[in-house]
Amino acid sequence: MKLNISQKASGKANASALFFVKQSIQFSDVLNETAEKQAESVLAGMKDGVFEDLEFVELDNKPTIFVDAAKDRGISSLDHLRTAAFRLAKKAMQKQIPMVSLMLADAADEQFKAIAHGLHYADYKFDAYKSKQKDNFQVTFEIVAGDRAASFKKVAEEVAIEQKAITLTRNLVNTPGSDLTPAEFVERAKTVAKYTNGLSIKIRDAKQLVKEGFNGIATVGKGSATPPFMVTLSYNGAGRTRTSKDHLVIVGKGLTFDTGGLCLKPPKSMPEMISDMTGAATALAAIQAIATLELPIKVSAVLCLAENRIGEHAMLPGDIFTAKNGKTVMVDNTDAEGRLALSDGLAEAGLIGATHIIDLATLTGAMVRALGYAVAGFFSNDDALALNVINCGEACCEKFWSMPLEEEYADALKDKFADLKNTGSDAGAISAALFLQEFVPADTAWSHWDIAGTAFVTKKWKYTEYGATGFGVQTLVELARRMAAGENAENETKEYAEV
Ligand code: BES
Ligand code: ZN
Ligand code: ZN
Repeated sequence: MKLNISQKASGKANASALFFVKQSIQFSDVLNETAEKQAESVLAGMKDGVFEDLEFVELDNKPTIFVDAAKDRGISSLDHLRTAAFRLAKKAMQKQIPMVSLMLADAADEQFKAIAHGLHYADYKFDAYKSKQKDNFQVTFEIVAGDRAASFKKVAEEVAIEQKAITLTRNLVNTPGSDLTPAEFVERAKTVAKYTNGLSIKIRDAKQLVKEGFNGIATVGKGSATPPFMVTLSYNGAGRTRTSKDHLVIVGKGLTFDTGGLCLKPPKSMPEMISDMTGAATALAAIQAIATLELPIKVSAVLCLAENRIGEHAMLPGDIFTAKNGKTVMVDNTDAEGRLALSDGLAEAGLIGATHIIDLATLTGAMVRALGYAVAGFFSNDDALALNVINCGEACCEKFWSMPLEEEYADALKDKFADLKNTGSDAGAISAALFLQEFVPADTAWSHWDIAGTAFVTKKWKYTEYGATGFGVQTLVELARRMAAGENAENETKEYAEV
C-alpha cells in the first residue's frame, strides 16, 4: 500500500477508481457523461443516516465508492469514511487495480485521517502460520489534495505510525500461546525499546517479583513452566518542552494464555484466550507510537505478563497472598486471574509516580455479554479523565461506554479470612473494576478499560477480519496527544519548562 499525496485538484488523468466525498466533487471534472448520469442516480437513491448509505458501484467499469460525508453525523460519518476506504482498498487489491485516486481536495483533516486508517486496515494480514504466504497486491492511492496537501502529509505520517502500532498489537495478539510466552513477550518488548528512540525498559523476572512483593503476577504465573514477568517501559517526552507535570501510566493485562487455571475454562471459547494479553500488547504499541510521535508528555507502560495454567505449582482456590500494597487476597476463582496480575501493575504505576493511570484488560466475560464487540466499557474515579476517554475515543472511531463503580457491590469482595477475594457480586464487570480500585494508588486519576469484547472478533467486522482488532491503540495515543497539548480538563496548573 502506498499513499501519494498530490497537490492536484482533479485526478481524471490517473484515476482507475474514484472515491468521492459528496459535495467535494464536480462529477464533470472526473467522469464521462454516462458515468456522471449513473453517479447522480446513485446519490439520489442514497438513504439518510444509515450504514447502507455507502454505495459501492461500478461506474464506467471503475469501482467507485460514494460516501455522504456532507451530513454531520459525528463519529458515524468518520467511521463511514473509514469503512468505505477499507472496502475500496480491498476491492482494488482483489481486482488488482494498481492506482486509485481519491478526490479529497476539500476534506477536513479528520476525514482524511479516517480514510487513511481505512486504507491501512485493508493491508493487514496475518498469514505467518499458513504454509504459503502471499504478498498483498500493491495499490497506490493517489490523494488528490489540492491545497490540503501539506496538512494531509503530516496526517498521513501520524496515521502510518499509529497503524504500525496497531499492527504490532494485532500480530502479538494473533500469535498462539505456546509461541508468545511471557518470556517471548519480554523479547518483543525489548525489540520495541531498542528500535524506538527515547524508550527505556525495566524487566523483573519471577524471582525479583517475589522479592519485591509483587505477588499478584507471581501467584498467577506459578502453575506455568514459562514463568511470569513485569515489564516497565518509560518515555520522558523526548527531551521536548513539556507543558504539564502529567505522567500517564498505561497498565496492561498480559496473560499470554488463560486456561482458567484449576477453575478450568470450557473448551469452546478457550482458543480465543490467546487474546488475553491484548491489554499488554496495546500498552506496548501505544507507548511505541507516542515515543515515535515524540509527544511532549511523560508516559510509561507496565506489562503484567503471565500464563494462567494448570500445574503442580498452580495457585489453588482458597490460597491467600499479600499484594504489593499490603492487602491480603484470597483466590476464590483461579479464572479471575487478570485482576490479581493487574494489582501489581497498579502498584508499580504508583511507585513510578503516575498522575494518571489507564489500565486495559480483557477482564470479564460479563463485559462481553453487556456491550459485545463494538463498545468497550470503562470505569473511572475521575470525571475529567472519563470525559477525555469518551472524547478521544469518539475522535478515533472507538466507542467507550461509562460504567459505574457501584459502591453497593463492594461488600461482596470481602473475604472471611483475607481482606479481599477475587470474585464479587453478579455484576461481574463492575466487581472486577471495584477489585482493581482497591489497588489504585492514592490521589491518582484512574480509568479501567475492560476490552474483553472489543479486543478480538470471531467474525469479520467492519475493517477487521477474524482475530485481533487493535482496539484502544488510537484512543491511547489521542489521549496522550491531548494531555501533551494541555487539553486535559483537570490539568489546571500548567508548567512551562525550557529544554
Ligand atoms: N480472560 C477472561 C475474560 C474474557 C472472557 C476475556 C471472554 C475475553 C473473552 C478472564 O480472565 C475471566 O475468565 N474472567 C472470569 C471471571 C469470573 C471467574 C469471576 C469471567 O469473566 O468469567
Ligand atoms: Zn480467567
Ligand atoms: Zn483472563
